[in-house]
Amino acid sequence: MALFRLFNSKKANLALALDIGTEFVKALVFRLEGEKGYVMGVGRKRQRLSDMQGGMVTDIQGVIKTCEEAILEASQEASQEVEQTIVGIAGELVKGSTTTVRYRRDNPKEKISFKELKEIVENVQEKAFGKIRSQLAWETGYRELDVRLVNAAIVDVKIDGFKVTNPLGFQGKEVEIGIFNAFAPIVHLGALETIADELGLDLLSIAAEPYAVARSVGLEEKPDFAAIFIDMGGGTTDIAVVRNGGVEGTKMFALGGRAFTRRISELLGLSFEEAERLKIEYSRGRLDAEMRQKIAEIIAPDVEVWLSGVELTLTDFALDLLPSKILLCGGGSELPEIKKALLGSEWVARLPFAKPPSVRFLKPEEVVNIKDETKKLKGPADITPMALANLAIDLAGEETVVEGLLSKAVRALRR
Ligand SMILES: Nc1ncnc2c1ncn2[C@@H]1O[C@H](COP(=O)(O)OP(=O)(O)OP(=O)(O)O)[C@@H](O)[C@H]1O
Ligand SMILES: [Mg+2]
Repeated sequence: MALFRLFNSKKANLALALDIGTEFVKALVFRLEGEKGYVMGVGRKRQRLSDMQGGMVTDIQGVIKTCEEAILEASQEASQEVEQTIVGIAGELVKGSTTTVRYRRDNPKEKISFKELKEIVENVQEKAFGKIRSQLAWETGYRELDVRLVNAAIVDVKIDGFKVTNPLGFQGKEVEIGIFNAFAPIVHLGALETIADELGLDLLSIAAEPYAVARSVGLEEKPDFAAIFIDMGGGTTDIAVVRNGGVEGTKMFALGGRAFTRRISELLGLSFEEAERLKIEYSRGRLDAEMRQKIAEIIAPDVEVWLSGVELTLTDFALDLLPSKILLCGGGSELPEIKKALLGSEWVARLPFAKPPSVRFLKPEEVVNIKDETKKLKGPADITPMALANLAIDLAGEETVVEGLLSKAVRALRR
């Protein structure tokens, strides 16, 4: 991450955001100017059907080829070549959560020192590391050693209940630090590193995609913000829960738009490509009444299954009231049934919502640090790569003291 702070290459202010999705590779070439990123080129290429499964790379060489094409398209439009990239990681095996540790100080009158802060951060990280890693290993059947940290970030720092950015020099009884950590199996992370390597790109950072999406609306400026972010792609649905302006956790399950296409193809005896076309026509309201009815019936059971997936995922966050705002992105969410299903009352009644949640699509203009010069980023599927670029800009900004300590603790743990 330290690398990244400087955007340290010859073309220092240029970078690539690479979203390797199950269905599409999306590549954005952007330049850093002031505190904003300007998208200069966009590339989008469909993956071969067998190269990815549920957000995970299953054929590295195949994915590299598709990435190359997407990157070429983006760099040609930008008339620039890029050397450094931020890559998103997604899929059901990526898991993120915020660990908060409260720490009582022996001597509240004493000012908080660097050494004290360092110990607190290391302590939080050790706890988080052990806990999440064993949980992920248990859930996925991987051995603990085979699970690695993807990214870590400070969610909030409080002294006696007050939010501060830099705790150094403050007095107080209690320090509270929340750190978000995302973990993934090593095979999965390693695949992304290999891809970047073979593409000849300097890998600045790998980021958990739902974390990036949640951060994209500018949480730093919104201490009271609460929402549920749902990124429904082709192979996975990624969920992030934000409360009090902090990302509390991210979870994913392996069900996305591809499932509907598969079902249509099976039941109507069509090829995957034909079924995909039909689904999109359906979704845009371009089919005649009879066909529309047929497709609606075919996809209804899978929409139910998908909604149960959302419900089950949110159960994990249901110890407190759930945010009553749902923000959607990802191409799969364009199917009209998705929003409709979320607006239904039955599943809502089974979860601790204070009121029925509102549901809407995230708009590309809402990604705070990113300006699109290409005018091509319009749909829900464009949000994820934009969010990655947005996170890169955030990371390029100045590091706070606590963030610096966190980077050090992370490096130590990775060794
Ligand atoms: N208008 C539309 N109506 C319905 N579905 C759509 C529409 N446009 C795109 N999709 C679906 O969105 C999915 C692709 O979305 P997206 O590009 O966000 O996925 P991805 O990022 O490649 O996958 P993942 O995030 O799961 O790895 C496909 O299943 C596609 O059929
Ligand atoms: Mg995606």
